[in-house]
Amino acid sequence: MQPADTAAVREATAILHAGGIVAVPTETVYGLAGRATDPAAVAAIYAAKGRPSHNPLIVHVASFAAAEKLAIFDAPARALAAAFWPGPLTLVLPLRPDAGLAPAITGGRKTLALRVPAHPVMQALIAAAGPLAAPSANRSSHISPTTAAHVVASLGAAVPLVLDAGPCSAGLESTIVQVTDGVVRLLRPGAIAAERIAAIAGPLSPPATAAAVIAPELIAPELIAPELIAPGMMASHYAPRQPVRLGALHAAPHEFHIGFGSVAGDLNLSPAGSLAEAAAGLFAALHHAEASNRSVIAVAPFPEDGLGAAINDRLRRAAADRS
Ligand code: TXA
Ligand code: MG
Repeated sequence: MQPADTAAVREATAILHAGGIVAVPTETVYGLAGRATDPAAVAAIYAAKGRPSHNPLIVHVASFAAAEKLAIFDAPARALAAAFWPGPLTLVLPLRPDAGLAPAITGGRKTLALRVPAHPVMQALIAAAGPLAAPSANRSSHISPTTAAHVVASLGAAVPLVLDAGPCSAGLESTIVQVTDGVVRLLRPGAIAAERIAAIAGPLSPPATAAAVIAPELIAPELIAPELIAPGMMASHYAPRQPVRLGALHAAPHEFHIGFGSVAGDLNLSPAGSLAEAAAGLFAALHHAEASNRSVIAVAPFPEDGLGAAINDRLRRAAADRS
């Protein structure tokens, strides 16, 4: 772990240019980055995470102009990029055949997930090393990291360098929106509330739930079974060690209770009832509860509006059956 100062960013840039991977802060969660044009770096990302090769990666670029070289934007995609980039919005768009990315990033799909991150450290790295593929910097299916210490605990020696810029401000992953053939579809609720996306792009197709919704015509049919289209959207994800019980107004002594608003809990995500504050602290609270000696994690209820939808999505996955 190193403070994300100029010298550390230079060291990270050298590792990236040599085909290596580094853990980097973004405004959402920490990412595990490698150069998007380098097949060896992309393979190293999948290996370090223990991530199935059919689960594609997000490519992070510096600007809309850089994004346009990799994917095709129609009018709603342009409007969303103008409204939310740089920031925690990922757009899934038709991939340009001449994009020049490592094929494993998309796993053979005809679409590409793209985001322009706002975090200055990530921006500095992209400026120095070009487009970066970066999933969240945790072992596959485990809780996402919002501090450098979470990355070290989850990936340890698999990552040569973790740039530490303190806790992530949003604390939830980006909102993923697919825009293809003029249809705007929410694939993953996240740090930008769906209501804000709809205010720009009009009504959204239904949010992806455990049964992910991605237009099957966008996928080369020989490649994958529909149920494997967006494995990051599978029901059991963000899973701590213990079982998770939701909607808990009270907790038993063997339970670690994560509170919200007037539900005090052992730890309260926002006594004032702010969903943004709760989102920022959610994964850290789950990491903390997991490290406790309690055998169950109980979590207070959250409203379903605004960022509450994304918080409830992560909690439902954390609580889902793992069999
Ligand atoms: O906030 C974020 O988005 C963070 C930071 C590091 O940028 N990244 C992140 O990446 O959350 P990851 O890999 O943990 O989640 C990306 C999700 C996965 O569920 C993946 O299946 C989906 O995006 N995805 C990637 N490419 C896709 C595509 N072409 N079509 C549909 N889903 C895609
Ligand atoms: Mg992830």
